[in-house]
Amino acid sequence: MTTGVVIVAAGSGKRMGGQRNKLWLPLAGEPILAHTVRVFASHPEIQEIVLVVSEQDHADVRAWLAEQNIQLTVVLGGAERQDSVRNGLDALTNSAYVLVHDAARPFVTPAQISQMIKQVQRDQATILAVPVKDTIKVVGETGVVESTPARESLWAVQTPQAFRMSLLKEAHRAAWQAGSMGTDDAMLVEWLGYPVTVVLGSYENIKITTPDDLLLGEEILRKRKGE
Ligand code: CTP
Ligand code: MG
Repeated sequence: MTTGVVIVAAGSGKRMGGQRNKLWLPLAGEPILAHTVRVFASHPEIQEIVLVVSEQDHADVRAWLAEQNIQLTVVLGGAERQDSVRNGLDALTNSAYVLVHDAARPFVTPAQISQMIKQVQRDQATILAVPVKDTIKVVGETGVVESTPARESLWAVQTPQAFRMSLLKEAHRAAWQAGSMGTDDAMLVEWLGYPVTVVLGSYENIKITTPDDLLLGEEILRKRKGE
């Protein structure tokens, strides 16, 4: 069965606070984007890759891919992450299963990708997640705590998220028609009433969001190199 990946990179990185998309920032001397693309491009079970980028980054991404001799499909993203994923899905031509991954998560491992591919063939919709370490509170607009959900049932969701292609396309179509925005892809599938299973991820699979995450990222890479 053919498996493709949509890597979404079309954000602007506002919370990072830089001039340019955060994905160009270096980790161990190479752009964050390079780390993420490489792990999928070198994975033997990934047959198709679509990279979704913004108009601002398009020319630079193409030049970088040519320089690295990496062949994949590049498409333009949209205003929201959900729009970018939808554009990416439309560009995958040949895949029965699809992984959706944030370019801002460069520390996903080949083993995690393999595990997601195995799991999606069984479950049709599956996501990588870790149990939350902090107690999470629901806080109202007035700044007063409304409730404290049981921590045992709370998981922090990561990417990749993996789906049977036709299921995720249907979920995106339904969300688009209803004008609904989800905060991840699984949520759109949940809205269809379809069960989504969870695969235990790792606390190292962080999303690079704020400057602190870059320091942590360098530390993760040093640890992996055995330094
Ligand atoms: N993304 C995208 N299209 C968008 C918004 C986000 O493809 N319209 C991508 C980002 O490039 C990133 C991933 O979705 O790889 C997760 O988003 P996030 O970490 O929030 O990145 P940004 O949206 O770029 O950052 P910020 O929210 O701080 O602006
Ligand atoms: Mg964002």
